[in-house]
Amino acid sequence: MGVRLRPRGPWSLRTRLVLSAVGLIAVVCAVIGTVTTIAFRSYLYEQVDEQLLGVSHRAAGPPPTAPGPVPGGFDTPLGFVIGPGAPLRTVGALVVDGEVTSASVSAQPGDGPYGPRYLAQPLDAAQTAALASVPRDGDPHTVALPGGLGDYRVQYTSGKRGDFLTGVPLAELQNSLSTLVVVELSVTAAGLVAASLAGTVLVRVALRPLRRVAATAAQVSRLPLHSGEVALDHRVPEAEADPRTEVGQVGAAINHMLDHVHSALDARQRSETRVRQFVADASHELRTPLASIRGYAELIRWAEERGSEEHGPDTRHALGRIESESVRMTGLVEDLLLLARLDNGRPLSYESTDLAPLVVDAVSDARAAGPGHHWRLELPGPADTKVPADGARLHQVLVNLLANARTHTPPGTTVTARLHEAPGHAVVEVEDDGPGIPPELLPSVFERFARGDASRSRADGSAGSTGLGLAIVRAVTLAHGGDVTVDSVPGRTLFSVRIPRTR
Ligand SMILES: Nc1ncnc2c1ncn2[C@@H]1O[C@H](COP(=O)(O)OP(=O)(O)OP(=O)(O)O)[C@@H](O)[C@H]1O
Ligand SMILES: [Mg+2]
Repeated sequence: MGVRLRPRGPWSLRTRLVLSAVGLIAVVCAVIGTVTTIAFRSYLYEQVDEQLLGVSHRAAGPPPTAPGPVPGGFDTPLGFVIGPGAPLRTVGALVVDGEVTSASVSAQPGDGPYGPRYLAQPLDAAQTAALASVPRDGDPHTVALPGGLGDYRVQYTSGKRGDFLTGVPLAELQNSLSTLVVVELSVTAAGLVAASLAGTVLVRVALRPLRRVAATAAQVSRLPLHSGEVALDHRVPEAEADPRTEVGQVGAAINHMLDHVHSALDARQRSETRVRQFVADASHELRTPLASIRGYAELIRWAEERGSEEHGPDTRHALGRIESESVRMTGLVEDLLLLARLDNGRPLSYESTDLAPLVVDAVSDARAAGPGHHWRLELPGPADTKVPADGARLHQVLVNLLANARTHTPPGTTVTARLHEAPGHAVVEVEDDGPGIPPELLPSVFERFARGDASRSRADGSAGSTGLGLAIVRAVTLAHGGDVTVDSVPGRTLFSVRIPRTR
């Protein structure tokens, strides 16, 4: 069974800074420790070698070529191992004709009346052999003597008293070195622990301003900036926006950016408001001349019907077109005006509105307008279908949805208007089994002026399609705090409008 490990996230800046600092300190400590140990080691070796030289001189006497008599020596050739200047466990071997004839080590069997008493004890065969193996070049060599004696510095020497191998123990030197290494390691470890604790605290304190800058950016990122009046007054605090520090530079840059964004959003909002106002004013102004055009066209038709004026068929056709186009244009202007007003946040006139009669009325109007379709109504039983809403606007929503189901489907299509309840909402659905909304149009069907094949709309005898119907459905629903969704495949198109039951 495979275990899937989660990929490790990147290290935080704090961790990286502390680890780098601690790593650097560790390297520095390692270098200092190594150099100190090497220097101390060679100093100790020099001292031991000097001591060894002293013991060698005393053992062998002056060089064989030196003039004068041999100075007074010890009782036995190997007496020097317990002589003055020879440390405890000094070893010595007498070499005659290149062969070691006897070898001794100084031992301390107990305290005598004048202090510790040293004794020369003979070395065993293995120890003697190890001692004899030392190169006889007069230089000090390190050799390990068996039988618990340990490492030694051993030197071959020859003098007026004969040839000798002398050795002094390295145990003390090795003890000093290992004590030094232990002390270095403990001090380094304690230093590293202290440095990482102090480093963590220091870095945390140093990064605190950066966290405040990030907090400001996070607050701004949560603001709804995409539309409407935006109050963008979040700024990085002055203390964190001082360009003399690195964090301050980031803070200052963010503040500059926020100033820019604020003024850009302000400019966008002002231009949007201007455009909306312009559309609202223009639509409003267009209503009167359009009403006049319609009025005059109707007047001419009325005069003709009364027989006071006679027109040819072309003029009559032209007058009919003027009338129908002005009706269409009035509808368009009304739609534009309504959208502009909803955009400007003009309040709706909320009152307790019963949706059931609204749906019944709208469906019976649609049935009258589209007798070729099958109209069905599904209402809940004795449910409460009242919502706080602007009745006239909701009526328009239903009219638009039912008009779509009528004009964008062929005769014979079944259209069902449904009313039911959902938690906290009343839901109105309009479903038809027509050809469905073209898939390429579906994602943008609620956009303004989004419509299917315009020529098809005209051909099917509708009064021309503008593509504002569903935009109004959405704007009105959103203004009520609700939402509208569409689900469309060939054979089933379902619009559902949800209106909250409370405000
Ligand atoms: N029930 C439906 N069946 C098939 N297509 C639809 C249906 N409802 C909407 N559409 C498609 O969505 C487009 C947009 O509809 P919308 O109501 O916004 O505009 P319109 O009906 O074309 O014009 P308007 O409603 O302003 O007169 C329509 O042109 C049509 O192609
Ligand atoms: Mg429509």
